[in-house]
Amino acid sequence: MADKKIIAIVGATGAQGGGLVRAIMNDKGGQFTARALTRDVNSDKAKALAALGAEVVKADVDDLESLKKGFAGAYGAFCVTFYWAHLSPEKELAQARLMAQAAKHAGLQHVIWSTLEDTRKWVPLSDDRMPTLMEKYKVPHFDAKGEANQLFTEAGVPTTFLHTSFYWDNFIFFGSGPQRGPDGKLAITFPLGDKKLPGIAAEDIGKCAYGIFKKGREFIGKSVGIAGEHLTGAQMAAALTKALGQEVGYNAVEPDVYRSFGFPGADDLGNMFQFKRDFEKDFCGARNLDFARSLNPALQTFEQWLAQNKDRIPLD
Ligand SMILES: NC(=O)c1ccc[n+]([C@@H]2O[C@H](COP(=O)([O-])OP(=O)(O)OC[C@H]3O[C@@H](n4cnc5c(N)ncnc54)[C@H](OP(=O)(O)O)[C@@H]3O)[C@@H](O)[C@H]2O)c1
Repeated sequence: MADKKIIAIVGATGAQGGGLVRAIMNDKGGQFTARALTRDVNSDKAKALAALGAEVVKADVDDLESLKKGFAGAYGAFCVTFYWAHLSPEKELAQARLMAQAAKHAGLQHVIWSTLEDTRKWVPLSDDRMPTLMEKYKVPHFDAKGEANQLFTEAGVPTTFLHTSFYWDNFIFFGSGPQRGPDGKLAITFPLGDKKLPGIAAEDIGKCAYGIFKKGREFIGKSVGIAGEHLTGAQMAAALTKALGQEVGYNAVEPDVYRSFGFPGADDLGNMFQFKRDFEKDFCGARNLDFARSLNPALQTFEQWLAQNKDRIPLD
């Protein structure tokens, strides 16, 4: 244990980071060990990670000193921000800046930054095909992550820029699951037309990140993308129908309709799906399935994920 290299993991009690802690700690003969960073070392989730053998250390991504301590003595770190906890791209940028500073201070040899596209490179603010949000973003929860890439580069941190995909777990936790329409029939609703959505089991993100750390320096300075499958709304509905044993339809609404749904972040997500629809080739192309499987041979398909998780999808 003492000679293992430490990977400090932000968001360790969450979806992405948690998957990475489990991937590292379940590989008993591997060269790494996990240091789980959390704001509450006494939470049940933190204790579950400690039970796997992970070191659990208190840190907050708003607090530079705590990040410095959390990263000290580590070989590498997994960095992620939590947009949906605060809905502030500026906060994500500030937190990424602190993580990059702390990583530089600790002399880390490899950081994985969980990022997404800065969609303004495809749809400048002057382009009115989708509304500009919060004055300077098209897809706030994407754009700030992409903008933050340069903070790691400028700080001189050896970084892999990991582009993740839509979690299929959103069908359980994020309100994306099948809803009953006025006709009583279940349907999923996305403004994607007949275009494909790269998706992934959230647990597989950490497994892929572990694969990147295991490759050593190969992906440092590079942008990589992962997905389990690229599926149309109709294909996801067909898989849900089969798994749930109930007909699930697909409502291919227009982005404007999705943006008007009114829940917090509906405009951001409406723009996000429109971006994925209108730039399907680039967005899917940046998330190669064979590449993801080479990092994580256990990568799940949607059907495999459904077989494990179908009973957790709320149906009203
Ligand atoms: N949902 C999707 O389909 C999807 C797809 C791609 C990317 N994303 C992105 O994924 C990011 C979220 O990652 P996730 O899903 O892994 O998060 P998550 O499951 O919501 O977990 C967040 C964890 O982060 C920790 N945390 C929250 N605020 C913190 C802070 N100030 N300092 C330190 N730790 C903090 C919490 O741990 P403690 O309470 O233990 O501190 C929590 O357990 C978002 O930015 C989102 O945009 C989501």
